Amino acid sequence: MNRISCLIIETDQEAIRHIDILGRTIGSLEVRWKTNSLETGIAIIRKHLPEMAIVGLGQVPTASIEGISALARDYPSLYILALSDKSDSDLILRAMRAGAHDFLCKPVKEIDLRAAAEKVYKLKAARMEKRPDSGRIVAVFSNKGGNGTTTIAVNLADALVRYHGKKVAVVDLVLSHGDVTMFFNVNPSYSILDLAKNAQKADYDFLHTLLVKHSSGVYILADPPMIEDAEQISAGHVKDVLNTLRSMFDYIVVDTPHQFDERTLTALEMSDTILLVSLLNLPSLRNTQKCLSLFGRIGLRDERVRLVLSRYLANDEIPKDSIEGILNCPVFFAVPNDYPAVIASVNRGKLLRETSPDKEVTKSFREMSDLIVSPPVPQDAPESKKRGLFERMFTSPRRAK
Ligand SMILES: Nc1ncnc2c1ncn2[C@@H]1O[C@H](COP(=O)(O)OP(=O)(O)OP(=O)(O)O)[C@@H](O)[C@H]1O
Ligand SMILES: [Mg+2]
Repeated sequence: MNRISCLIIETDQEAIRHIDILGRTIGSLEVRWKTNSLETGIAIIRKHLPEMAIVGLGQVPTASIEGISALARDYPSLYILALSDKSDSDLILRAMRAGAHDFLCKPVKEIDLRAAAEKVYKLKAARMEKRPDSGRIVAVFSNKGGNGTTTIAVNLADALVRYHGKKVAVVDLVLSHGDVTMFFNVNPSYSILDLAKNAQKADYDFLHTLLVKHSSGVYILADPPMIEDAEQISAGHVKDVLNTLRSMFDYIVVDTPHQFDERTLTALEMSDTILLVSLLNLPSLRNTQKCLSLFGRIGLRDERVRLVLSRYLANDEIPKDSIEGILNCPVFFAVPNDYPAVIASVNRGKLLRETSPDKEVTKSFREMSDLIVSPPVPQDAPESKKRGLFERMFTSPRRAK
């Protein structure tokens, strides 16, 4: 079994030496990094991702406790132990509330360190066990911009966490100009580029640190920081990323770009549900019709594709019921039109639930999440074909209009 990698952030050299010796005695713990500075410790964690960090509270516990709080927030899988020469109950409580998993009192006892190492092993094992490759991918797609795909992706993800207790990630696949981080008002240190590069080789704990957790509980995998970075991500990367996330989350909601490039098609093909977003106006419906027709030609036109009307007005000139006949596709869901509510939430970097909890548009995302978790019984699906999707798309004969 691999030994647990441990970092000690502590000014007391004698305490460090003592823990180092105990680690060797226990055998299952390896003190690989030692520093007396919190700043250096954080840099080590960012670079090497140890499994355990022992943080000395020292003479200025407040600063160390703030450090623990930041570590617990940014590195959810890091096992944090607070270390102090005082076993003051108030201090213990503050450290635990900040996110420390346990508290060690100097001089550290072998039995306590051993117990902590065992807990890390157990947590690791539980994480590995808990998630078979069962996460469901929900792609939100529209072949036309501005229809509301990001609004739907973000608020649906929130509803899946909030009302169904699911572990949810949102992936921004709009690689050159994604909006997801702005909608959530987060500023992540990592992006899909980092996950793409590491998906094959890194473990669960490391990959988790590449996503940022929003206060709603939704994890976000951001678009790359620079427009030109998008080119470094291939369709193969998208496949690796989504497969990896499937093993970590219950639902992966993907905000997709509006064009059919190979990366988008890979995501669509891997999806369990494709929410095809349209507006109830003729130009948009015509585009949706073309899109459904393409899905048909490339073998994607099956029960996975769910038509979602965005910005829906009940008294619209085009009745909703007539759409099913025109498009030969049932309307799965209609998101009410409420521009003031939606734009206010976007401009504030908040979720609709936070800015307009009582509006119909907000409530609709709860209903949509119910349907995603317990979908209506699907109709018979056409058989899936074997050739690659991209290949099929570009080798399909052009249809006469
Ligand atoms: N249900 C809604 N009611 C009213 N306005 C909405 C609704 N959903 C989205 N909008 C508005 O539509 C515009 C586009 O929304 P959004 O950014 O979600 O769409 P998108 O398809 O992701 O756009 P883009 O092509 O820029 O990625 C925004 O101004 C947004 O406020
Ligand atoms: Mg968008």
